Amino acid sequence: MKTSPSLLAADFADLRPAIEMINSSCADYLHLDVMDGVFVPNISFGFPVMKSVAKVCRKPLDVHLMIVEPQRWIENVKALGAEIMTVHQEACVHLDSCVSRIHAAGMKAGVSICPATPVETLSDIITEVDVVLVMSVNPGFGGQKFIPRSLDKIRRLRRLIDDSGSKAIIEVDGGVNNVTAPLLAQAGADMLVAGSYVFSANDPASTIASLESL
Ligand code: DX5
Ligand code: ZN
Repeated sequence: MKTSPSLLAADFADLRPAIEMINSSCADYLHLDVMDGVFVPNISFGFPVMKSVAKVCRKPLDVHLMIVEPQRWIENVKALGAEIMTVHQEACVHLDSCVSRIHAAGMKAGVSICPATPVETLSDIITEVDVVLVMSVNPGFGGQKFIPRSLDKIRRLRRLIDDSGSKAIIEVDGGVNNVTAPLLAQAGADMLVAGSYVFSANDPASTIASLESL
C-alpha cells in the first residue's frame, strides 16, 4: 500500500518536525490539503505556506485542491514542484481540459470525487487520469468518521479502471485508521491519505509503516 500522510493534522505552529518525521518515514508522498472556504466550509493554507513546506520536504508533493476553479492555479502548483495535482470533479466544468493542462505542466493529474458523486461520472475521463482520489468523508475537515459506503464505491471504481485499461491509481482520503485501512486495501485502494491517525499516534512513523505494510 502507498501512503500520503496529510499535513492538515500537524501542528501548524511547528511544521518542520512534522515534515522531518515524514521525510524519515517510508511515506510515498506528502499530502497537502488546500481549502478556499467556498468549495468547502473551511480554509486551510495556501501557496506561501506550501512554498516553505516544499523547501523542507524531501517526499514528492500530492496537492489536493478543495477549491473552485482549480485550473487557475496549475502554474502555482507546478512552481511548488508537485508531482500530483488533484482537482475536484465537482469543481471543474471543463475537467478534460483541466486534466490536459495539468499534464502539459508536467504533473500527474488527480481527480477527486465527494461522497455523493458516483464513480461512473469519471467513465469518460478514466483513461486520462493518473489518480482518482475517493473522498470517504465530506471534504473540509480532518478527524471525521469514515463513510462505510465508500467501500462499495472503491470496488466499483476498481472495476471501472480495470475494464477500461486505465493506469489510474485509487487514493482514498478521510477517516483512514487501523480499522478502515485493511478494508480499503481489500476493496482495491492503492494509496491511503491519513491525517489524524498518523499525527495523533505516539509513533507517527511506525503508524505510516503499518499502513504501508497492508
Ligand atoms: C479532508 C482532507 C483530508 C484530511 C483527512 O477534507 O482532504 O486529507 O486531512 O483527515 P483524516 O485522516 O483525519 O480523516
Ligand atoms: Zn485531502
